[in-house]
This record gives sequence, structure tokens and C-alpha cells, in this order.
Amino acid sequence: MKQLEKLAVPEVLKKSMLYSIEAGGKRLRPILLLASYEAFGGKLNKVLPTAVALEMVHTYSLIHDDLPAMDNDDFRRGKPTNHKVFNEATAILAGDALLTYSFEIVGTDTGLSNEQRIRLVRMLAEVSGPAGMVGGQLLDMEAEDRPLALEELERVHTLKTGELLRFAVFAGAYIAGANSKQLAALEKFAYYLGLIFQVQDDILDVTGDQEKLGKPVGSDEGNQKSTYPKLLGIDGAQTRKNLYVEEAKKALKHAGAEYSILMELTDYFSNRDH
Ligand code: IPE
Ligand code: IPE
Ligand code: MG
Ligand code: MG
Ligand code: MG
Repeated sequence: MKQLEKLAVPEVLKKSMLYSIEAGGKRLRPILLLASYEAFGGKLNKVLPTAVALEMVHTYSLIHDDLPAMDNDDFRRGKPTNHKVFNEATAILAGDALLTYSFEIVGTDTGLSNEQRIRLVRMLAEVSGPAGMVGGQLLDMEAEDRPLALEELERVHTLKTGELLRFAVFAGAYIAGANSKQLAALEKFAYYLGLIFQVQDDILDVTGDQEKLGKPVGSDEGNQKSTYPKLLGIDGAQTRKNLYVEEAKKALKHAGAEYSILMELTDYFSNRDH
């Protein structure tokens, strides 16, 4: 975010953007992108700007997710949510600004070829947009107070959470020069990884520790969300998640990345406590 300091951005907007970015978070999407880059032999680090852009899109999605019109949550990353510190209009605009700035970063990254830039900007737009994260968030809101079938819930999870993770896995391997067969196997890996990640998020909303999580527990229950624990119970959700872990690892083998850190990250995503 160094560049941001130099831009002629209105002071409050800059503060609001930096507030949520600098609050921290686990940085799992950039970590995943770097791990995928390394798994396919990426050496000179060409991926940092893309990784930063992805984290900015994710952070925007959290700011909007916490708004009163959405999940109406007061804590995020161990701090009061953006709209609590600034105000709703500023939080909405900070989210908009993080999203659009992310495209500027990838679109002007001179470490990438023209072809890579176009492909990545396009994919980042796709995974974040109407058929990606935003679409998933809409379905998640629509599913409040309405029991979903398992396949419907998988779709919501895949769109609202899985798509950004798919970008991380794809972008790292693509920039490192993975072939199309490997990239296809990775798509499958990322699909299961997205489900693992959100199932664990839903489990932690029931069983987690608010201090560790840095966000409220019981938010899903309060909002009558459709979640795996609600549909299958905690044990059922765990069992389902373990199936996804097996499938994810199988796909990783097909991609020829079974000895990479992606394998360990799969277990971490599944067992994390925050
Ligand atoms: C939370 O994501 C939102 C979901 C998609 C479940 P993270 O758990 O990765 O949040 P941070 O980045 O660590 O705050
Ligand atoms: C959020 O899912 C997914 C996105 C922000 C796109 P949740 O609503 O479950 O995320 P948390 O639990 O608030 O972090
Ligand atoms: Mg939500
Ligand atoms: Mg939420
Ligand atoms: Mg959640």
C-alpha cells in the first residue's frame, strides 16, 4: 500500500482503506498464491503485486460483508468494523476503492507480460464479480431464513469464498508457467479448498473463540444463515469437510504438486482455529 500514500486520494478514504488492510488478517490468499507459484517452480518473485491486489479484493469483500445491510457485524480482524469507525458511506466507498485499485495494480504490473496482465485482470474480475464472489454473497443473503439443500449450499460457498481462492491457486501456478493439464487439476483442487475453507469458517462461527477469531461468533445463527453446521450438525459438517480434504489432495496429486506446501495448507485450512 506504499503507492497509495503517494496518490492524490482524499485523506479519509485513504485512512479507511488502510484501516482495514492494516488491521491484518491471516493473509491466506496471498500465502496461497505464493505457495502455488513456488509449487510450480516460480523463482524470481513476480507475484507480489497480484497477491496484494487479491488481498485488497478480499478486504473489500469483508468491509461490505460486515455492513448493517449485510451481516451487520461489529468486529473484524480484532478491531471495530470499518463502518463503526468511519461511517457506512465511507466504508462502502473504501470497499469500492480497494476493489478498483486492485485492477489498477494488476493492470499496470510491469513484471508481467501483456498477455499475463490481461488474463489475470480478466480472471480477477470474473472471480470477484456477478458469477463469482458478489453472486455468492447475494445467494448467501437470499438463503437467510431458508433451508438450502447441500448442493445449493455448496454453490453459495464456492461462489462467495471459493472463487477468490481459485484465483490465488491459478494465478500463482500460471505466472510460474504451469501447463494446461496442471492448471485443470488445480481448478479441481481449488474447488475443494474453497469448500473446506468456508465449512471451517461456518464451524468456527459455532465453536470458535471470539478473541482468536477477531470477529464475533454466533453471527450466522443471529442472521439465520444457511451453513453446514446448521444443515448437517457439527459432526456432519466435519465429516463432509474431511471428504473435501481427500478430494483436494487427490487433485493436488494429479497436478503433480503433492510434495508442495499446498498439501500442508490444505490441512491448515481444514483445521485452523482462527
Ligand atoms: C473470512 O476470511 C471471510 C471468508 C471468506 C470466510 P478469512 O478468514 O481469510 O479472513 P482474514 O483475512 O483472516 O481476516
Ligand atoms: C463471507 O462469508 C464471504 C465474503 C466476505 C465474501 P462470511 O460472512 O461467513 O464471513 P465472515 O464469517 O463474516 O468472516
Ligand atoms: Mg456473510
Ligand atoms: Mg460475515
Ligand atoms: Mg462466517
